[in-house]
Amino acid sequence: MQENTFFMIKPDGVFRGLDQAVFDRVTQSGLKIIDQKKIALTSEQAEKLYRPHLGKPFYAGLIKFITSGPVIVTIISGNNAIKKLRDLMGATDPRKAVAGTIRGDLAEENVLTADKTIKNIVHGSDSPESAKREMAIFFKEGK
Ligand code: RTP
Ligand code: MG
Repeated sequence: MQENTFFMIKPDGVFRGLDQAVFDRVTQSGLKIIDQKKIALTSEQAEKLYRPHLGKPFYAGLIKFITSGPVIVTIISGNNAIKKLRDLMGATDPRKAVAGTIRGDLAEENVLTADKTIKNIVHGSDSPESAKREMAIFFKEGK
């Protein structure tokens, strides 16, 4: 099924200059980057993006981490793009992500921020509903 999803290089990934290495993996898997921009998330955008995590113990640290530097927000398109991208990303905790995945291969030694938030280079929507909601935060309708 052809679908669009939201994908983002997080501040740790941008800071470490990993964007091209990550995008190469995405395009080599057959997916297309149909829109992208480098921005600094406002706290309002960060709170909107991570609203489903509001109230969880890592929420405040997550908002701080995700607004700590520029990110690259993208729309990725392709067959089964949501699952394909999540598989490419690997497990949330890079220490548990298998080799061959972005998080498994590119994580730095220290995967935690000072607040103990997991730094894991990338974000990808986890369902068609999330994809629609998250794309709309950063890109105009119609994509
Ligand atoms: P994402 O939404 O960023 O693509 O990551 P995900 O689905 O793999 O993980 P999720 O459960 O949605 O968590 C969102 C982000 O919050 C940070 N986190 N830290 N310290 C912790 O226990 C913890 N748990 C989550 C990570 O940056 C995670 O990607
Ligand atoms: Mg998630």
